[in-house]
Amino acid sequence: MNPFNPAFGRKPEHFVGRDHVISEFSAALEDPNSPWRTTILIGIRGSGKTAILSDIQKFDNQKKKITVNVTATDDMLNNILSEIYRKMPKSIKKSLPSISDISAFGIGVKFIESKDVPNFTNSFRFQLTKMLDFLKQQKIQIIFLIDEVQKHSEDMRNFVTTYQHIVRENYDVVLLMAGLPEAISSVLRDRVLTFLRRANRVTLENVSVKLVQLEYFESFNTANKKLSLKLSQDAAQATFGYPYLIQLLGYYLWQISGSRVTPKNFKEAVVRSKVELFRNVHELILDSLSPKDRDFIFAMSHDDVESNFSDIVERMGKKKNYISNYRKRCLEAGVIKATGYGKISYTLPYMKEFLEENCNPNQLR
Ligand SMILES: Nc1ncnc2c1ncn2[C@@H]1O[C@H](COP(=O)(O)OP(=O)(O)O)[C@@H](O)[C@H]1O
Ligand SMILES: [Mg+2]
Repeated sequence: MNPFNPAFGRKPEHFVGRDHVISEFSAALEDPNSPWRTTILIGIRGSGKTAILSDIQKFDNQKKKITVNVTATDDMLNNILSEIYRKMPKSIKKSLPSISDISAFGIGVKFIESKDVPNFTNSFRFQLTKMLDFLKQQKIQIIFLIDEVQKHSEDMRNFVTTYQHIVRENYDVVLLMAGLPEAISSVLRDRVLTFLRRANRVTLENVSVKLVQLEYFESFNTANKKLSLKLSQDAAQATFGYPYLIQLLGYYLWQISGSRVTPKNFKEAVVRSKVELFRNVHELILDSLSPKDRDFIFAMSHDDVESNFSDIVERMGKKKNYISNYRKRCLEAGVIKATGYGKISYTLPYMKEFLEENCNPNQLR
């Protein structure tokens, strides 16, 4: 069985290099004073955000904990309420006031106390607190896991405001949310969401190549697929520690090879991985940029490892201030990173190669 699986949103069979995040967050569950109790994971596509959230789900139903895992896209508030309701112990459900408005699929829960319900009883905060009161009696903790945080979301405002209140009111709740760099920046700028600015922020960078090498070496050699030290190093290096690529390359190395991995297998696996990487990551990221941001990214592709901002200004032939704006936007989107004074480079491996293959030369002049 191939232990690697390059599917998004899937928990890897073996995590490489995220022990710190997972152990700190896990420890925070037992420590009411830990700053990790409200944590924001920030990372580009394929950096492993969803994988960490899925791992934390292991606490669901354990030692008086309930995890509530939702994405910030559709109907988040209702999904939170119905998820908690679904996971509550039966004994508590019985004591809750009668329920109305369970839609056809069982999504959407509303509690009513009497026939003439005042309007506020329909509010998210009221309904959440209602359930939390019962859970508190039984000392049950709620772990909120919110994936794919979006910009400008009314639901997010509502949720975070409520969360802030319930933290103050000493309910046992923790929050781990994840989003793309751009979305998180916009959420942190939101006037209503200032509470989140004090939250613990974790940027998911690439993991250590050395750890990837160990993972490859062990996974193959313990499964009777011989992988030399040299090839395990080359393969690890080729991933640059980018989580999605660790899975992709591992997957193809495994599929292509027989009882021993040859240098030819390695070369082929790299080619195949890049095809998928470009289609599933690079193209989507490029698509999400504005034409001007793209020009900026293209202008960087002249350089090998890193670019001097001043060279980009010259290549683009516009005023420095004007171009600074695009640098800022690309930094915020997580497509590029600052690597030193006035220096920048791509965040994703093989971006230069991708652009060279997909490049309109006119855009470079
Ligand atoms: N720490 C890690 N080590 C190895 N593989 C990982 C790690 N984190 C994520 N992956 C794998 O990388 C791929 C992308 O992860 P995912 O969590 O979907 O990224 P994101 O949600 O940030 O876009 C998945 O196949 C996942 O199993
Ligand atoms: Mg994800």
